[in-house]
Amino acid sequence: MSESKGKFYITTPIYYPSSNLHIGHTYCTVMADAMARFKRLCGYDVRFLTGTDEHGQKIQTIAQEKGVTPQEYVDEVVAGIKELWKTMEISYDDFIRTTEERHVKRVQAIFMKMYEKGDIYKGEYEGMYCTPCESFWTESQLVDGCCPDCGRPVQKAKEEAYFFRLSKYQDRLLDLFENNPEFLQPESRRNEMISFVKQGLEDLCISRSTFDWGIPVPIDEKHVIYVWLDALSNYITALGYPDEPELYDKYWPADFHLVGKEIVRFHTVIWPAMLMSMDLPLPKHVLGHGWLLLEGGKMSKSKGNVVDPVKLIERYGIDALKYFLLREYTFGQDGVYTNEVMLKRINFDLANDLGNLVSRTASMIEKYCGGYVPEAATEDDTDRDLKRIATGAASKVEDQMDKFAFNMALEEIWVLVRRANKYIDEEMPWVLAKDESRKAELDTCMHNLAESLRIVSILISPFMNETAQKIRKQMGLWYADIVWEDAFTFDMMNGEQVKKGENIFPRLDIEKELEELEAMNGHKEENIPLELKPEIEFDDFDKIDFRVGTIESAEKHPKADKLLVFQVKMGTEKRQIISGVAEHFTPEEMVGKKVIVVANLKPRKLRGLESKGMIIFADNGEKLALVSTDAEDGNSVS
Ligand code: ME8
Ligand code: MG
Repeated sequence: MSESKGKFYITTPIYYPSSNLHIGHTYCTVMADAMARFKRLCGYDVRFLTGTDEHGQKIQTIAQEKGVTPQEYVDEVVAGIKELWKTMEISYDDFIRTTEERHVKRVQAIFMKMYEKGDIYKGEYEGMYCTPCESFWTESQLVDGCCPDCGRPVQKAKEEAYFFRLSKYQDRLLDLFENNPEFLQPESRRNEMISFVKQGLEDLCISRSTFDWGIPVPIDEKHVIYVWLDALSNYITALGYPDEPELYDKYWPADFHLVGKEIVRFHTVIWPAMLMSMDLPLPKHVLGHGWLLLEGGKMSKSKGNVVDPVKLIERYGIDALKYFLLREYTFGQDGVYTNEVMLKRINFDLANDLGNLVSRTASMIEKYCGGYVPEAATEDDTDRDLKRIATGAASKVEDQMDKFAFNMALEEIWVLVRRANKYIDEEMPWVLAKDESRKAELDTCMHNLAESLRIVSILISPFMNETAQKIRKQMGLWYADIVWEDAFTFDMMNGEQVKKGENIFPRLDIEKELEELEAMNGHKEENIPLELKPEIEFDDFDKIDFRVGTIESAEKHPKADKLLVFQVKMGTEKRQIISGVAEHFTPEEMVGKKVIVVANLKPRKLRGLESKGMIIFADNGEKLALVSTDAEDGNSVS
């Protein structure tokens, strides 16, 4: 490996273990992993951190509901998260849990530093609190009186608390955004933050005394440190700050914090202010990525409408999922997830383009060259064009990766994949093979295809390591390490033994897969016949005379709690009808309602009062609902 190009520290958010992770978290982690792998391959000394954010009211509540301790609860969920990342070959260097001792003691040290600086004081907090989001909001931040993040109702809450003098850093934060446009991307997020800071920053409440699942405030045991101060600190506590600063000295400041757009504010206002308070350097870049949405809106653990990455991996493999996530969506923008777009990506790009190229190349080298990569002895314009694209791809990938444009980086690689497929069609090796005198051209063609796949295997390795290895195995390159610089050179292969293996991406039957996926998610629209009374003849139905009635008055039956006595007007006629609905409706709410009446039902006496006909209600087995109409009373219904 070449000499180090310097250090590169990249982080994901630390996720809440409030339930299993969904494809949205996977998306962020897959991007960070691809970048970490890419930078390592390019020769950087990479540190890639992820982890879990385990304290707070919400976790405590969930654990209580499940009848376990919060620690037991998070241990189980975090084990599942680590298992997922292991399955997905996420190459993190460290996984920090905020319940770990190393984190707890360092957060307390951070609190003390800020306290000793004079930036933390005790006060009283009053605000609107969203429990699921663990966020206090000011009245002006609420949207329609509800939490601006999740849209759920908030409660007024008041408590004694410690505050961080965030307001003190307002000017320095504005300077940061205005003089350092690189700090926060995309641009639109930066403008949002500038106007947010310009509105004026209030001091930030950083402790809670209403629950105890958190890191104790070192100077006041009645309080725990509020989750954001606890969580944000992970980026330096994981590096050993302040007591074991070896890694901290080497890797801080972070090169990139990758975060979803909803937590950009915490990372670009609160976190820098905390660092300013401690006189520490600020992260170089915060990148806010967009959300993966479902057709119906945002995926959310609490709404339960999430896409489970484990199911997709089991069916299509980790590389298909990684490729899809990185290729389909544009960094910084929201994107809609559907099973169909995913399946099409897998089929078109992976099965058709890449899978085909590999299997065609391997089987032709076996057939035409006895299974060994030949040397190239000829060169024409078509060969030159393929070589130019093959050796030019790596620097294009570098340029796109500098911009975190994963989709464009992959697109550059697929320009080569598609060019190589077209090269086969243009060279028509099956024609060359029929003519002994064109053996040299045939060899060149096979050689150039093997070379193209060698380069492709290098280029895709940060994104799809498993697939890169499979290609290299089929091309007889198992003996050589993947070296990024080798992607810039053609003509490195000679005599490698090619072995056609299994299809790396078998073609999917999209219709069938769609059905399977929908069935798995329980979204399938099912048509199950209702259980009904025995069928009746039309003549039987025609005997019933339905009429529209207006309820003119309603009162409780004097002798039966469950009955209401209605006076109903049906056109010219008024009559009394008694219904067993007193548990579902008050007499007052029924007055004036239009109802449907079975008007020719034989009259009967109910606890001494006559009832002439029957009012129809809808019944779900628990609760009755009115069946009403706009029509005039007396109208017949059929
Ligand atoms: O916010 N689309 O944790 P969290 C894309 N613990 N990305 C998504 C997503 C979606 N639908 N849903 C989640 C927290 N994410 C805090 C972070 S950091 C010091 C503390 C990703 O479990 C996205 O990166 O709610 C988002 O920012 C993160 O998961 C939030 O994860
Ligand atoms: Mg969240």
